Amino acid sequence: MATSCAIDLSGSSFCVVSGASQGIGRAIAVEVAKLLGPKSVMLLLARNKQELAITASLCESPNVKVIPTSIDLGVATEAEMSVVLKQALKGYSPEDFANSLIFHNVGSLGNLAVETFRMENVEELRQYYDLNVFKVISLNTQFLKIFEDVEDRVIIVNITSLCAIKPMGGMAYYCSGKAAREMYFKVLAEEKKNIRVLNYAPGPVETAMIDYIVSEAVNENLKDVFNSFKNQGSLLKPEITAKKCVKVLLAGKFGPGEHVDFFDDE
Ligand SMILES: NC(=O)c1ccc[n+]([C@@H]2O[C@H](COP(=O)([O-])OP(=O)(O)OC[C@H]3O[C@@H](n4cnc5c(N)ncnc54)[C@H](OP(=O)(O)O)[C@@H]3O)[C@@H](O)[C@H]2O)c1
Repeated sequence: MATSCAIDLSGSSFCVVSGASQGIGRAIAVEVAKLLGPKSVMLLLARNKQELAITASLCESPNVKVIPTSIDLGVATEAEMSVVLKQALKGYSPEDFANSLIFHNVGSLGNLAVETFRMENVEELRQYYDLNVFKVISLNTQFLKIFEDVEDRVIIVNITSLCAIKPMGGMAYYCSGKAAREMYFKVLAEEKKNIRVLNYAPGPVETAMIDYIVSEAVNENLKDVFNSFKNQGSLLKPEITAKKCVKVLLAGKFGPGEHVDFFDDE
């Protein structure tokens, strides 16, 4: 069992970051890229090509080849995901890498304009769950299939939220999706003790997501909470939480699938 072992990323790594075009995903990609050893490959996924290219330019180095790939992860088929992963690995075999990492950072808030007791649009909910839960599981499975012969080198980080474990009024799509997604990774970790799995909650971070809450939420308390975070300047910068995520990961003190929050004691 690999739990409680420090993680060393100084060898060559294959690293996937979803939702890498902005916000926390971009910051994580930049932080991780700094650590990767020679002959590493990073695959950055999101829809916005221009922003992905900016992230790629921030990550590239003599050690790290970066492959930015535009993909809509809410609708991509499993075959398409597999192709994207295999294309990034072209010229390599999974055994070439000392570590194979995937950061499941992609995420959206869902419909903040509908009150929980009035939720009834199942098609909309399904689309929300596709992007935030089902396709995250699919992508993870395609990744694991490729690396199944070197499974003990696999490291999975799910970017979760306090909302996965604590209800927040006005955010039923988000909270339920985050809870389901986190539990999937916990069950996986329970079954696969040779794979390192971390559920990292980044804290309240200054990104487009927060602006969306402030402009779209119909729940007054929700709006107030995030407005006051903004006005008091208490939102975290993406780089700060990304550094903490990497620190927690490298220290390797987390249990299988453990939920670790930015504010947890070290
Ligand atoms: N901000 C916070 O306070 C906070 C707190 C706790 C947890 N989190 C979690 O942290 C993660 C990142 O959040 P963030 O605040 O950085 O959000 P963000 O700025 O809105 O970034 C979301 C990322 O996901 C990508 N994305 C969205 N829909 C996509 C799709 N259909 N296909 C592919 N990529 C898609 C976006 O890229 P494109 O638009 O280019 O596709 C973007 O790169 C999320 O999982 C979020 O739940 C955030």
